[in-house]
Amino acid sequence: MSRRLIVAISGASGAIYGIRLLEVARQIPGLERHLIISPAARATISQETTWSARDIEAMADEVHADSNIGASIASGSFQALGMIVAPCSVKALSAIANCYSADLIARAADVQLKEGRPVVLLVRETPLHVGHLKAMVRAAENGAIIMPPVPAFYGRPTTIDDIVNHTVGRALARIGLENDLHAVWTGMRNPSTQAG
Ligand SMILES: Cc1cc2nc3c(=O)[nH]c(=O)nc-3n(C[C@H](O)[C@H](O)[C@H](O)COP(=O)(O)O)c2cc1C
Repeated sequence: MSRRLIVAISGASGAIYGIRLLEVARQIPGLERHLIISPAARATISQETTWSARDIEAMADEVHADSNIGASIASGSFQALGMIVAPCSVKALSAIANCYSADLIARAADVQLKEGRPVVLLVRETPLHVGHLKAMVRAAENGAIIMPPVPAFYGRPTTIDDIVNHTVGRALARIGLENDLHAVWTGMRNPSTQAG
């Protein structure tokens, strides 16, 4: 299997998750990074970060326009380890859940799923109505891994970076790209505080 990772940044809040993912992925030897940034993500990037889309794109080996449904990554013949949508909007979730491949994010995800490869969706919305929840179920039934970027506090994060790194580390690990970004649980700090 080729050492290729597809990263998509869609227009949900949390563009920093996709950016950090690329920062980390480019440190992984031999990992070819393919990137899609949706038009809405360009808006969230400008609202939420000081990054330019150009600087984010510079961290990828290949950048594909979201409108380019004829891109290499739109075909199942394109070998990859899998795909991470970080963050994943409800729109992108819904498209993936319904195989509605009108843009490259949805098409590339659909292709990875039909080829039996992992697709991790960092779905970000809250609160969630039943339509959102049903879309998550449907996407999961198609094989997607639903991984909302929900912080864990047992690692005692002290910065936003800690929180972002934990989720990014777990998402990469789910694709099979082990890393030391996320704290591994080794048991209670102080066993005397255990209940019971
Ligand atoms: C600042 C900002 C924050 C947003 N946050 C979210 C969000 O957290 N979740 C979500 O599903 N959509 C969010 N949206 C709306 C999406 O950007 C919008 O639905 C868009 O059509 C998604 O398109 P895409 O999936 O092609 O990126 C946000 C939009 C803006 C401008």
